[in-house]
Amino acid sequence: MINTRFVKIFFVIILVINVLYFTRIYTIEETKLKQAAINHVSSITYFTDDQITIPQGKKYEELSNKEKVAYLLENVGKDGSNYWLANTNLLEPNLKINPADFLPSSNENQETWATKSTLYYDPRFTISVYLNEIKHQLMTQNPQNDKALNSKIVVPFSWSDWVDLTLLNEELSKPIDDRANCEWLQSKINKPTKYPNFCHNLKDLSEVEMDKIGFKDKKYLPGFVVESSPMNKAPHKQVMMQGKSHLLTYQENPLSLIFLTKLGTYEAQISDKQRIVHTEMFEHYLERKNINANHLEDINNEIILNPVDEFNDLLKTIHPRPLDLNDDIYKMNLITRQKDINASRELYLDTEAFNYQQEQIDEQIRDYEIRLNKLEELMTNELHYDPKEIEINALNRHELNHYNGLKYSNSISINDEPTYYKLATLIKDSTNQDAGWHNEWRFFNGALRYLKDGYSMKHLEIREQIILDRLLRNWFRFAEEKGIISWIAHGPLLSWYWDGLMFPFDIDIDIQMPSAELNRLSANYNMTLVIEDISEGYGKYLIDCSSFLHHRDKARQDNVIDARFIDIDTGTYIDITGLGKNNEKPPDEFDSYIRNKNSQGEPIELYMDRRKHWLNFEKINPLRYSMLGGVPLYIPNDVMSMLNHEYTQGTTLYYFDGYYYVPSIRLWIQQEKLTFLFDEKDYKDGNEINVDKFTQLVKTMNDDLKVKLLESDKDILIEYYLTHHYTSLHEIEKKLMLDPSLQHLILDLKHNTDYHQLTSKFKMGKPLRKPLFDYEYIERLRHDEHNPVPEPQTETENQNDNQSNNDTNDNKNDNKDNQDNKDNIKEDNKNENKN
Ligand SMILES: *[C@@H]1O[C@H](CO)[C@@H](O)[C@H](O)[C@H]1NC(C)=O
Ligand SMILES: *[C@@H]1O[C@H](CO)[C@@H](O)[C@H](O)[C@H]1NC(C)=O
Ligand SMILES: *[C@@H]1O[C@H](CO)[C@@H](O)[C@H](O)[C@H]1NC(C)=O
Ligand SMILES: *[C@@H]1O[C@H](CO)[C@@H](O)[C@H](O)[C@H]1NC(C)=O
Repeated sequence: MINTRFVKIFFVIILVINVLYFTRIYTIEETKLKQAAINHVSSITYFTDDQITIPQGKKYEELSNKEKVAYLLENVGKDGSNYWLANTNLLEPNLKINPADFLPSSNENQETWATKSTLYYDPRFTISVYLNEIKHQLMTQNPQNDKALNSKIVVPFSWSDWVDLTLLNEELSKPIDDRANCEWLQSKINKPTKYPNFCHNLKDLSEVEMDKIGFKDKKYLPGFVVESSPMNKAPHKQVMMQGKSHLLTYQENPLSLIFLTKLGTYEAQISDKQRIVHTEMFEHYLERKNINANHLEDINNEIILNPVDEFNDLLKTIHPRPLDLNDDIYKMNLITRQKDINASRELYLDTEAFNYQQEQIDEQIRDYEIRLNKLEELMTNELHYDPKEIEINALNRHELNHYNGLKYSNSISINDEPTYYKLATLIKDSTNQDAGWHNEWRFFNGALRYLKDGYSMKHLEIREQIILDRLLRNWFRFAEEKGIISWIAHGPLLSWYWDGLMFPFDIDIDIQMPSAELNRLSANYNMTLVIEDISEGYGKYLIDCSSFLHHRDKARQDNVIDARFIDIDTGTYIDITGLGKNNEKPPDEFDSYIRNKNSQGEPIELYMDRRKHWLNFEKINPLRYSMLGGVPLYIPNDVMSMLNHEYTQGTTLYYFDGYYYVPSIRLWIQQEKLTFLFDEKDYKDGNEINVDKFTQLVKTMNDDLKVKLLESDKDILIEYYLTHHYTSLHEIEKKLMLDPSLQHLILDLKHNTDYHQLTSKFKMGKPLRKPLFDYEYIERLRHDEHNPVPEPQTETENQNDNQSNNDTNDNKNDNKDNQDNKDNIKEDNKNENKN
């Protein structure tokens, strides 16, 4: 009895103590959380490291840490010779030539580029001549730059003017009979090709075939005339030669050219296949400069071609064409350009954007065929002949391409799709550890990590960063210019999470778009060559849409990628995949989503790309305006749940493959560049570096160490100089978008003016990296690779190079031969070439 009572009282007391205890703990936790939330948002400041005033008259050693950082940053801007990579302006637009070398010669013994068998390439020549021609045509045919008069501006085209094919000169300079043939191309392969007709020996090429590829004389062709990819592995040189021979011969021309500017576009249709030197374009160019091609004295004097001057001249003469409001379906162009700092820049999509299925395909075919039938009637029945009606019904070249694609893909079952994209595949050897895969085979111009003659590893790293930065920049400028909806996905989205930059160790860029939008892209822009804003560089990108993008179910093995934005100078590309409705069974994880929707009587909006990535509408919509590497773009709505699903520890692990994320400078830095900062005993277990301990040290680095790090390595300093404005904006963005743990999204930002004011600052700045042409062809050869940061000079003025180029820019830095990220994209790419 007593015992029981005692026990009861005892338990009641324990219970009370517990309740009191947990209430208290709970209140403490609650307070902590509240405090965290307050700290989280109240710590928002737009102040950046370069805004500290550096006191005059003090020695560097006497400065505070913050002043030292500001000083170091300022120096990067001032000291253009030491920090040349930080200047991303076009520096060498002037091209000196002797006009006579490009005109047919009156003297038979004197060869010029118009008669030589070898090729000339310089993008400054090509772009100057084309811009001048297009300006002239616009002035005379379409001074208002009206979209309706698009077909009036027409230019010829040959890939050899636009891509550096001069590696072929090695062959083209030999007598025809001595040129290497198809056997040479396949002399060192991993396995015999399944497509022996991929290549024709020049000596066997018939007149008919020559005609088909647009050549009258065999002297202009290499001994191997490549019709398609052999789909096997070969050494680097042969793989480059394959692609270049194909571009010279069988590769079809783009349908149109689009020149990007900051305010709209200039466009031209492509007529036939011709090199500049085999047309009168250059002669006309000279005429317009008052140089008479028939006056020997005139044309034997050096002249300067400057594509940037031509571009500015065009801008002054004819307004670039803004996007037609009717083509801005989601008003993206309008939304991103609004001036009101409080306005939302989020983009609300319609579920119809994801509804692209057989019904829509049939409807488009029907519409095209009604027009085609009308045309036939108008053309064949003289009683109905009516030029105006013909003009109304005629299909333009993009429409015809689109119609053919629809018919073709409709005729092929999903099980029988041939591989659309072919990649450059390389045999690995002592000089090459890169198996290719990351380059389109036709435009392959050296693997990202292959040491060509005259290149060091560091050159390759810089080249790679330039290529990726410019790809991203040009895609999103094009997409915004044309009102095409897309957002970053997978690897780039994960790297966005960390610092709003691309990972230094990743070489994939993936974007997604709604399936109906993908079809719109292909209908209007398939086989369009997009040309970078010429005041920033000479990048050129081909939009190549797979024939099978009309199929929305799981790809059987290849064709998981729907479209590519290909850098034609290098073969590097952005992978574009469409997301939409389909006939596949959703994975189990969506069961509760489906049940929920069903019970509420709402439609199920579940989408898939052809690689089996599933998403529901709410995870995507609304798209949020953001930036990656200084490029304004969109990210999906529920970015955290997507990342946490795709990468288990992707947003929590500060270490990846030799790199650590360093919060004090918001960059991923290689381990070996950090070890000197810390005491070995603090991070080593025996001889091994303990990643957890090292991570802890990196996470808690103080300002002393930050200064030490920036003083230690020129590359890191330049990178910080180029990126710190962007990464600090991203830091603010994360605070506004995510909860204090930084792991969960605050979903409703509709009425958050702080957030809208932040996004109003997202504007395309200067490029973060140098123009590829300047770097590869000119500046790379001028500078040594000396890395240490020059001794700080104290208060005296540094040599002022006048390259001070404030904001963004280039760099180099980083890199291992780590091929892919935590993604399985490479697997997919591999499958693509599996034949
Ligand atoms: C933006 O919103 C803030 C707070 O809601 C308001 O104080 C400010 O006047 C607004 N600014 C403009 C330009 O509308
Ligand atoms: C894009 O153009 C290429 C080349 O003409 C063609 O093979 C392909 O089918 C086109 N894609 C679509 C979606 O029409
Ligand atoms: C540097 O720029 C200033 C102002 O922009 C100019 O006056 C000066 O001549 C330039 N110096 C050199 C060396 O080009
Ligand atoms: C540098 O930036 C300042 C302020 O943003 C600007 O006034 C100045 O013109 C810029 N200088 C150069 C060389 O771009």
